[in-house]
Amino acid sequence: MKVPQIEFTKNEFSISRLVYGIWRMHEDGAGSSPERILEKIEVCLSLGIDTFDHADIYGGFENEELFGKAISKLPSLKSKIKIITKCGIQIPGSKFTTKHYNTSKEHIRYSVERSLRKLHVDKLDVVLIHRPDPLMDPYELAEIFEVLTREGKVSHFGVSNFTTSQFQMLQSVYKKPLFTNQVEFHPFHTEPLFDGTFDQALEHKSHPMIWSPTGGGRIFSPKSERELNTASKLKEIAKVYGCGVDQVLYSWFLNHPAGLVPILGTNDPKRIQSAAECFSYPLTRVEWFSILEAARGKEVA
Ligand SMILES: NC(=O)c1ccc[n+]([C@@H]2O[C@H](COP(=O)([O-])OP(=O)(O)OC[C@H]3O[C@@H](n4cnc5c(N)ncnc54)[C@H](OP(=O)(O)O)[C@@H]3O)[C@@H](O)[C@H]2O)c1
Repeated sequence: MKVPQIEFTKNEFSISRLVYGIWRMHEDGAGSSPERILEKIEVCLSLGIDTFDHADIYGGFENEELFGKAISKLPSLKSKIKIITKCGIQIPGSKFTTKHYNTSKEHIRYSVERSLRKLHVDKLDVVLIHRPDPLMDPYELAEIFEVLTREGKVSHFGVSNFTTSQFQMLQSVYKKPLFTNQVEFHPFHTEPLFDGTFDQALEHKSHPMIWSPTGGGRIFSPKSERELNTASKLKEIAKVYGCGVDQVLYSWFLNHPAGLVPILGTNDPKRIQSAAECFSYPLTRVEWFSILEAARGKEVA
């Protein structure tokens, strides 16, 4: 079974239901040569994963460029893939000493144009504001979103790690629907289920993208009692279905009606292939709650 697409109806745009993340690309034990990057892109495409999640800062501001150089070697790929990137985080370096956020219109324009250059593409499908900036002016942001859309540089804008009120504030002044709120969610971080994040996504029909779906790999190397209990619950269910723990975990995300889109972080092509099979193992409601219970260390009230 191929990974299906998920439609963002308000944006009239779809992405693959599993997205491939580029954050750890430079940590790949097999290197980050164009050939290795192309190998992973082609594995993804063969499985139906056509969407790639970048950020300007990934790999010390180098991963976009590495990816761009790789796809330039096979330009026919450009029409087959969808690119999401993020901007707004500033890392200390020669120009300044304090880590900070910058969501000024000048910086957003600068970042978008730099991402276009580094990725060797004419247009970015989706650009997300990476972190909520306490100095963020929603009117200024909405204006630059509109200008960059008009210039044909970006198709859709969205946010990441926003609270519900920050999302609402920006949406109230931006005329087009925000594409997504990309947030951390996994069995060891279940807050979005309860803090209104997923409720808001349902209301806005903006499917949440899920970062660190395996808790940065902790699902596979549990340490605390809660982590160990969660891992053994996943194993128990995997045994019933005769599948892998990873497949049960990714399937767990699919039960939520908001249409969660996990972003895969593995550098291992075999693990990408395995994750893509999660659609063959739909979980029952009871199984879903049993994982939640193990992860939170308590039953629901
Ligand atoms: N918006 C944000 O603020 C934000 C923040 C963080 C991440 N992200 C996005 O989310 C993506 C995914 O995040 P993530 O990298 O933290 O994902 P993750 O899957 O939670 O963590 C990846 C780590 O888990 C290991 N792993 C994954 N699958 C495994 C398996 N089946 N067995 C054993 N180990 C496994 C990987 O090792 P191997 O490579 O060896 O498999 C890697 O070290 C990123 O690439 C990025 O695009 C966004």
